[in-house]
Amino acid sequence: MDVARHGATANGGVNRQALSAEDIAARRHVIAWAQQRGFQTFQDEIGNLFVRRDGTDPSLAPVMTGSHLDSQPTGGKFDGAYGVLAGLEVLEALNDAKIHTRRPIEVVAWTNEEGSRFSPGAMGSAIFVGARDLASVLDVRDPKGVVLRDALDTTLNSSPIPRRAHGSVRAHSYIEAHIEQGPILEEAGLPIGVVTGIQGSRRLNVDITGEEAHAGTAPRRARRDALSAAVSVIAALENLTRDDDDVLRFTVGRCEVFPGSPNTVPGRVHFTIDLRHPADTTLRAIGDRIPAVVKQSAKNCAATVTEVSYVNPTTFQAAVIDRVRASSDRLGFRNMDMPSGAGHDAMYLARVCPTGMIFVPCLRGVSHNEIESATPEELATGARVLADTLVSLAQE
Ligand code: GLV
Ligand code: MN
Ligand code: MN
Repeated sequence: MDVARHGATANGGVNRQALSAEDIAARRHVIAWAQQRGFQTFQDEIGNLFVRRDGTDPSLAPVMTGSHLDSQPTGGKFDGAYGVLAGLEVLEALNDAKIHTRRPIEVVAWTNEEGSRFSPGAMGSAIFVGARDLASVLDVRDPKGVVLRDALDTTLNSSPIPRRAHGSVRAHSYIEAHIEQGPILEEAGLPIGVVTGIQGSRRLNVDITGEEAHAGTAPRRARRDALSAAVSVIAALENLTRDDDDVLRFTVGRCEVFPGSPNTVPGRVHFTIDLRHPADTTLRAIGDRIPAVVKQSAKNCAATVTEVSYVNPTTFQAAVIDRVRASSDRLGFRNMDMPSGAGHDAMYLARVCPTGMIFVPCLRGVSHNEIESATPEELATGARVLADTLVSLAQE
C-alpha cells in the first residue's frame, strides 16, 4: 500500500509508467527499505534494481526473484509490485529468523516490464539475459516524444547506488511471484498456482497514411481518410484472428489519429497490435499474415506494419515446477498447475537459468485495471511459498 502511493490514481489504482517520476519514487522507496535492513543495492545499465542478501559462499551465483514496479497507465496496485515486495519480505524474514543460505538471494525490480510507455515490454529482463541490446532501445520514444535514453539517465541518476556491469552477475535460478491476473484460481478456490509456462506474444505497429483534407469541402469520394482505412483494417484483422476456442488473443490497445482535429480528414493513423497464443505455430502463422491483410484492407491509403517484439512461448523446466509445487505442498497450501496468459520477466530469465513462477488469486481475475485487488492473506501465502522455494534453491 505504501508503494501504491507512488502514482496513486483517484480511482484507487496506479499510474506508474516505466522511468517516470512515479517509478523513480517507488524505486527510491524500495532502496530505502533495503538499505534500512542492511541489504546491498545495485542498478545496471537499463536501470534494473537489485537488492542483495549475501550467502555464506560468496563464490556462488545468486538465486534471483522479483518482478516490476512499473504499471499500466490505469494499472492496479499489485501487478508487478507484489513480486518485488514479496521478495523483499522474504529477505527480511530470513534476517529475522537468522537463516543463512549458501547462495546470495537477490530481489530484482526489472525495468519497463509493461511496455505501455516505451515499447517493447520486459525490456530490463530482455537486456539482462542478452536477448536485446541496450543500444536497440535507447532511441525509443514514448507517445509524448520523450526519448528513453533521457528518461533512463534521469532514473539512474536519481539513485546514487553502485552500478553493476552488464553480464557481471548471472542468476543461478529465478522465481517470480505474481497475481494470476485471471479468474482460474479464484474459481477453483485454490491459494496457489504453480506456473508451467507463458504463452507467446507478438507486438506490431501499424501506420496508415492517407491525405489530410478539409472536412467541409473535400468530397468523400476523393478522400484518402486514414481513420476510415484503419477501421476497415481492424475489422479485417478481427476476422483473421477469430477463434471459436477463444484461445488466440488479439488486442488493438492504442490508436492515434493525426492531426486529431474534428474538421480535418485524418491523414495518418498509428495503432498497436498485441497478439498471443500458447502454440508458436499458430502465433507465427496468424502473425505472419497480418501485413498482407493490413495492406489489402487499407483502401486507398498506404500502410506499413512493423514488428516490435516476438517472444516465443515459454515452458518452465519440470524440476523448477516440481520444486514450487513441493514448497506449496510442504506448507499445506492446495495448488494447481497452470499456464500464464500474461507476459512476465520470467519468460526472459527462463532462457538463461532454471525459472518458475508462483501465482496467487486476485479479485475476479481483474488486472490492468485500477480496481485490481488481492487480500493480505492471499499475498502472504504466495510470499511463504516464495520463501520456501528460494531457500531450497539457495542451499544448493
Ligand atoms: C504484461 O502485463 C503483459 O502481459 O503484457
Ligand atoms: Mn506484471
Ligand atoms: Mn502488467
